[in-house]
Order: sequence, then structure tokens, then C-alpha cells
Amino acid sequence: MARRSSPSFICQNCGATHGRWQGKCEACGEWNTIAEEGAGLAAAPAGPGRAPRKGRRFALEPLKGEAHDAPRLPSGIAELDRVTGGGFVRGSVLLLGGDPGIGKSTLLIQAAAALAGAGYRAVYISGEEAVAQVRLRAERLGLADAPVEIAAETSVEDIVATLSEGATPRLVIVDSIQTMWTDMVDSAPGTVTQVRGSAQMLIRFAKRSGAAVILVGHVTKDGQIAGPRVVEHMVDAVLSFEGEGSHQFRILRAAKNRFGPTDEIGVFEMTGLGLREVANPSELFLSERNLGAPGTAVFAGIEGTRPLLVEIQALVVPTSLGTPRRAAVGWDSSRLATVLAVLEAHCGVKLGGHDIYLNVAGGLRIVEPAADLAAAAALVSSMTGAPLPADAVYFGEVSLSGAVRPVAQAAARLKEAQKLGFARAILPDTARAEAANLGLSSTAIGMLVDLVSDIAAGAEKPRKMGPRAVRQDG
Ligand code: TYD
Ligand code: MG
Repeated sequence: MARRSSPSFICQNCGATHGRWQGKCEACGEWNTIAEEGAGLAAAPAGPGRAPRKGRRFALEPLKGEAHDAPRLPSGIAELDRVTGGGFVRGSVLLLGGDPGIGKSTLLIQAAAALAGAGYRAVYISGEEAVAQVRLRAERLGLADAPVEIAAETSVEDIVATLSEGATPRLVIVDSIQTMWTDMVDSAPGTVTQVRGSAQMLIRFAKRSGAAVILVGHVTKDGQIAGPRVVEHMVDAVLSFEGEGSHQFRILRAAKNRFGPTDEIGVFEMTGLGLREVANPSELFLSERNLGAPGTAVFAGIEGTRPLLVEIQALVVPTSLGTPRRAAVGWDSSRLATVLAVLEAHCGVKLGGHDIYLNVAGGLRIVEPAADLAAAAALVSSMTGAPLPADAVYFGEVSLSGAVRPVAQAAARLKEAQKLGFARAILPDTARAEAANLGLSSTAIGMLVDLVSDIAAGAEKPRKMGPRAVRQDG
């Protein structure tokens, strides 16, 4: 009698396999994400009674060989090409993840239309929407005439069979991987084994045919649909499309890229006519500035190779709570804790009795330590009620000793500031010469306490403070 394959319990978030059902996945820490699945592809070794298949011989090739024709295919959407590293790579598979409704389908139909318009065969397979809905969106985007081939299909076998016929498409979009299913696996669509199995087949198709395949993956918090994380290790590049519901900005980031950089971002704006590229994001991020209000500082940052000015907003308010609140949006909260500790320890700023909120405007996420100085300036400005000069940018890393350390690419940051009409820079000592070269006036900050005294001195004049919030140490 054939032995029944034993079921396994698989976390729908991270794909970890467990021997029994449990409430919490120990691998990723998520609750209620473990579901029972029949033994699938990954868990199906040759059973008893099945002879191991004899391997087929294949030819080994020398590393040194003929280069193939143009391996990259630029989409023509500059912000997208910047993130992929210059275009879609032949035979590669890219995963585009993001929250539902963020604009993944919109971005990809625009990319497909751009490629098809340039004469390449582009196919868009939707597993979520009917052909009519895809058409409707394309119409709304003004792309109805683009020669993109579309279909509403969910069977991977059918898709691969269809695409293998005739001329190989240069771009295949599969929207979304969670709706795909393959006969090879007998669990329900959307489960980890199905998502993995379907992705594997599509990856094999990409490698064999040389088509660039883009898989869309919804990122979900609940365990109902398998997270795209389970295929991240299988694909060549993982892009995430981010943004906040209340903002029209969308940021495309590479989390992994075998063929390009991972620190570049692409900036888009969601409009009534689809996604618009934002060639100069600094302008956009600074467009809603509230000039003259205390607690805001403009940070001159670098994202990948591109300088980016962004406003950092801080709010420091007295608290009645025993443990004051510290909340950071768009910035690392441990980095915030570090800057606060330095302000307390070396600058005499007493923050223990205050709730502190820090926000990076426009939904951007900053990872650079160079933002320390701007964050500190915004915090001190909010606490003292003294607005910072509206025509100044800030950058510099703050060390635990309270010293302001040099940061990379100062010249690029300053050039961007100058281009956008800023006249002053508050920066580490080492960057002073660069500011002078550009004709910007600069204030070099050696120790963070100097910046605190400068801001506090400004507070004395325009506004009477209640109890002195900032004490200046020698
Ligand atoms: P969509 O691309 O369907 O998101 P996803 O595929 O990531 O789930 O985008 C859906 C949202 O975008 C929807 O809320 C409407 C909005 N949108 C616009 O604002 N303008 C447009 O031109 C389009 C097509 C969509
Ligand atoms: Mg969609």
C-alpha cells in the first residue's frame, strides 16, 4: 500500500516548516501564520518503491565564452531603470512586493506599455483582474493603444505552454504570484508550497527562454496569503514599492539585486493618470515645508548616487507619563535614542520629562547616520521654540562623544542644496572647503554642544520661554 505523505505545517509568512501546529512561528515570530499543507514539491522525495531517476548528462562549458546580445532592456521609465540597475536583465526574475493598492499593477502596465511601444514583445498576465479591468486601467492611463498582450490566467502550466510558443516575449509580468497555481503541487493557491512551486516553474521558464519575468507579490500581515518572502531567495532581484496612504509619493527600492545596486531609490508620484516619474525628488519632498516653524530642519542626504534634500520634523512636548514616548517615523528609533542620549550627556539638554516625536517628511525612510545633525537640530529647535534658518541645510554624523563626524559625498549634498536655493550649510569641519567652493556660507560644527548653543541663543530673542529648557554647558 502506498504510504500517505504526511502533512506538514508551514508558516505562511516565512515558509518555515514545523512538525505540528502551533500558534506562533518560532522562526519569524508571527502569530497565526502556520497552516497545514499537503506534502508538496519541496517535501516530496522519492518515495519507497520509486527508483531514483538516472541523471541526464549535460555539457559543461568554459567560463570564458561568447557574450550574449544586449543583456539589459531599459524600460524607458528612468526611475524604474535606476533601481533595476539599467533595465531588465534577460532571463532574470524580479519580484515586486508592496502593500495592496500601492500601485504595483499600475507601474508594471506602464513599464510593459513602454517596452511594447519600443517594439519588444511584452506580455501581462493578470491572475487578479479580468481582461476588461486591465484594459480599463490601461485606458485610464492613456495606454490603450500600446501593443501589450494581456491575459487573465492563473495556471502556470498553461502560461508557460502559451509563452513557449512563437517568439519569446522579452518581458512577462505575472500579477500576482499569490494567485498562481501549478498541478505539480496539491495544495491550495496562495499557500507557501503553491507560491514556491509556481515561482520555481516561472523561474525555470525565464532561464530557459531568456525572457525577463516580473512577479508581483502582495505583502500581507495576516497569514492568509503566503508572503512573497518565501520566494525572495529564488529570484534575482527583489524590489519593494512603498508609500503612505496619505501621500501621493511612491518610492521604489531594491532589497536585493544580483545585477545592480541596492541603494538606489526611484521616486514616483501617483496621479489621476497613473504614476509620474519624479526626476527631482528634493523639490517634491520640500514642497510642503512650513517655513518659520520651530522643529524642522532640512537634511542634505544621499540615496544611492543621488543627493536628496528632505525635511526632518521633531516635536518635543512635556509629558505626564512615567516613561516618556519616543516615536520615529522614517528614521531608525535606536538612532533617535542615540542622538537623544548624546544631547542629554554632552549638551545639557534634559529630555527625560518630554515626549519626543521625529518624522521624515513625505514618507521617505532615511538610513544614513549623516542625518544625526539635522535630527538633533530639529529636536533642539522644537524644544526651545526657536525656528531654524529657512535657508540652511544640515548634515553630519554625531558620535557618542558628542563630536560631529565627517560624512561622505559632502560636495554632492552641497551642490543639490545650492541648486534648490539654499544659502547656508551647517556641517562637519571637513566639509567647509567644499561649501566655500560653491559660494555657500557655512557653519562648521565640531561638537554637537556648539550647535545646541547656537540654536538656544536664537531662542532668547524672538520668543520668551517658560522654564529654561536648555542649559548651556561651558
Ligand atoms: P494598483 O496598481 O491597482 O495597486 P496594486 O496593484 O499595488 O494593488 O493601484 C491601485 C491604486 O492606485 C488605487 O487606489 C487607485 C490608484 N490609482 C490612481 O490614483 N491613479 C491611477 O491612474 C491608477 C491606475 C490608480
Ligand atoms: Mg494589482
